[in-house]
Amino acid sequence: MAERLQTLGAVEAALWQQLLLCVDDKAHPWRTPVLATIDGERADARTVVLREVDPRQRELLIYTDERAGKVHQLLRSPHGTLVMWSQALGWQLRCRVRLAIEMSGLSASSRWATIRLSPAAQDYLSPLPPGTTVATSATAAAPPPPPHDPVARDYFAVIEAAIDAIDWLDLHPDGHRRAIFDARGARWVQP
Ligand SMILES: Cc1cc2nc3c(=O)[nH]c(=O)nc-3n(C[C@H](O)[C@H](O)[C@H](O)COP(=O)(O)O)c2cc1C
Repeated sequence: MAERLQTLGAVEAALWQQLLLCVDDKAHPWRTPVLATIDGERADARTVVLREVDPRQRELLIYTDERAGKVHQLLRSPHGTLVMWSQALGWQLRCRVRLAIEMSGLSASSRWATIRLSPAAQDYLSPLPPGTTVATSATAAAPPPPPHDPVARDYFAVIEAAIDAIDWLDLHPDGHRRAIFDARGARWVQP
């Protein structure tokens, strides 16, 4: 078993390293965290894919359809939490985030320029908004773009999750540990 990290600085560096690793490693469980948001008086949550990680800006990026329920929610209340767990690491992260949506700016258009050429483009081209009631279980494929309009209407959007605080929990047979990294600094807390 790997030696346990002893300092808050080492823990923080290691968790950011794992966040960076997970975006390129489809087998890394942190690549598919749960994003919790506020839906009026209720909580909501769903699995998403972490697409990009920027440790300097302390920002995580997620792709979505601009018409998705989560987008309506974050426009009304920008507070969210991203939760991930890795059995291999024994680590849970709870990232408290401020959520913003980019639909038409450079952040979205530059990424869409690449994605629109890939099979994943289908995820952002459906004429039907996510959550629309449909008659059958068959997925309605997006119609091919008209020949005179090479750029079909897309609904691709980027969710920017700016991290305010990270709550790290280390489950370990020798004793669980927990640390918070936020604007107050880094500190150990009782698990
Ligand atoms: C493994 C997995 C990864 C997913 N990744 C995304 C994603 O990156 N973006 C997204 O909008 N939905 C993603 N989804 C679908 C969402 O979980 C959710 O069903 C959908 O976005 C509608 O949620 P909403 O109505 O809360 O917006 C993913 C689902 C699974 C199971």
